[in-house]
Amino acid sequence: MTKKRSYCIAGNWKMNTTPSSATTLVSGISHGIENLNLSRVRVAVFPPFININTVLEHAGGHIAVGAQNCYYEPNGAFTGEVSCGMIDDAGCTYVLIGHSERRTIFKESNTVIELKLKAALQTSLTPILCIGETLSERQSGNTWSVLQEQLNTAFQTITPEQSARLVIAYEPVWAIGTGVAATKDEAQEAHHFIRKHLSVLGKETSIPILYGGSVTADNARDLLSQPDIDGALIGGASLKHESFVSIIRTAALLSEN
Ligand code: PGA
Repeated sequence: MTKKRSYCIAGNWKMNTTPSSATTLVSGISHGIENLNLSRVRVAVFPPFININTVLEHAGGHIAVGAQNCYYEPNGAFTGEVSCGMIDDAGCTYVLIGHSERRTIFKESNTVIELKLKAALQTSLTPILCIGETLSERQSGNTWSVLQEQLNTAFQTITPEQSARLVIAYEPVWAIGTGVAATKDEAQEAHHFIRKHLSVLGKETSIPILYGGSVTADNARDLLSQPDIDGALIGGASLKHESFVSIIRTAALLSEN
């Protein structure tokens, strides 16, 4: 018999929600998943910093909360930044690192991302390292070298033991917010490549690898059925509790097979 699958379903709310709409959203999710068998499904939401407290208050027992970003210094004169220790102390479980919007809009380099990853691993947070190629990188045949470079830099000083505490999210940039998700075969191929490359680097290969980029209630089943896809990082479809709960339900059903 094959081992039962576990999943992680994460909702990245980006720069959306007010304290009151965040409360409504997380309460709707909490209510919607009440009767699901989530023994092998981890659920997490990533509200804007300012709404983390209120979401923690209303999340109920099965929803973990994470931050969308962090800074790598522990404290000091870094106006506007929030450290991993602060996120940890606030009660968060996860932190997203290197989301493509951070890389592109805020010019975060692989080197900065490595520093953030190391800082997160000094705390009890679970970092979710986001990687992925742009459309032009894919079209010019550079997908594998881009993923390799992102992984090589991020993992260069991470020990194999530390790597076991990580989650990776493969998010092709061309699929984020576009309505054009990677096909299940494209996603599986990339996830398999990432796992193989982790082995080349001597890191933990059994860590969860989530797919992100236009995941919806309609395509979740196909994607989550792939052998190397261990969950999803969801933007747009996580902002409505109905669609987010539907994706969680799909993961719950698949985890029972
Ligand atoms: P999307 O965003 O689901 O809206 O494509 C995914 C993400 O940015 O994590």
